[in-house]
Amino acid sequence: MPRLATARAHSNIALCKYWGKLAVPPRADESGLGYRLRSLNCPATPSISLALAALSTETTAEALGDGAREDVFELDGQPATPAAHDRLVDYLDLWREAGLLAGRFRVASANNFPTAAGLASSASAYAALATALNALADEPVDRIDLSRWARRGSGSASRSIPGGLAAMEAAIDAPAYLALAAGELPWTMAVCIVDAPPKDVPSRSGMQHSRDSSPFYSAWLEEAQADFETVIEALWHLRHRSAEPDEVFASIGEVAEANCVAMHAVMQTTDPPLLYWSPATLAVIHAVRAWRVDGGPLAYFTIDAGPHVCLLCLQDDLAEVTRRAAAVPGVQRVIPSHPGGPAEIISLE
Ligand code: PMV
Repeated sequence: MPRLATARAHSNIALCKYWGKLAVPPRADESGLGYRLRSLNCPATPSISLALAALSTETTAEALGDGAREDVFELDGQPATPAAHDRLVDYLDLWREAGLLAGRFRVASANNFPTAAGLASSASAYAALATALNALADEPVDRIDLSRWARRGSGSASRSIPGGLAAMEAAIDAPAYLALAAGELPWTMAVCIVDAPPKDVPSRSGMQHSRDSSPFYSAWLEEAQADFETVIEALWHLRHRSAEPDEVFASIGEVAEANCVAMHAVMQTTDPPLLYWSPATLAVIHAVRAWRVDGGPLAYFTIDAGPHVCLLCLQDDLAEVTRRAAAVPGVQRVIPSHPGGPAEIISLE
């Protein structure tokens, strides 16, 4: 029985965003089902994302001996903050309550990119953690259930289990599935890290506030569903060669931008407002739009719950998009990435 497992998972950036959780009906709380439904962390919007090979988390989980009374958590070589530690313990409790794991664990996690900066660090973190924990379970779950377990830690983490272009429906206990594998994708992304103060409101609480207070929340749910269906249809045409790849790329890029702006409209109309953009965020948006007019590379922007901008582009244009984006005022650095593969175990002892 292994006692120590290390897993690697790639971060992912959504083209159709998950922002909002399925509401738990009041009757479920009366019957005691409420806790279980809430702990499933089910998305209210369907989402589709691209895993990025250049952004990854490596996590080691070690089963501590019988005498251990507490879980231990280290992040990037330092003891985790009390809030991050408590969140990890709650997550390990879910595995223990389900009878998949017993005892206490030491978890050491390291990202190769800025943590909590709106670069989906929780996606790669919980996908790597779930993969490492599953390798230590008496009866490991299959990969579909593993994506469900990752989702319980962080909604977007579910999509880092299959990697590539991964989709997740808005449904109770939805897993993520592979829509197109990394090797089949003609597109990729450049990540622009911009000047900005550290992120203040995490996605998990931010999206609850949006549901409770944004007047546009119900319109967002409708828009998100329609966007997702448009992208799934475009991918169908790509697979069946019933549309030109350039047309598919443009239609997915346009939907991704509109979906990102709609999500940020909901964020900005949340009470208190979630204002994630910085001046440099807008500078990149304007630059990308200008390239389209002046014959530059075709790229489409998308932004998660933070100021940094991810640019979707053809793999052939990645170097040129990276070069141009690096010259935009306020951009600190650009990380070019190829599409990433699935979460995987890299060592087992
Ligand atoms: O997985 P969470 O709870 O960090 O939420 C992710 C939210 C967004 O990154 C803004 C959108 C998405 O689909 O990844």
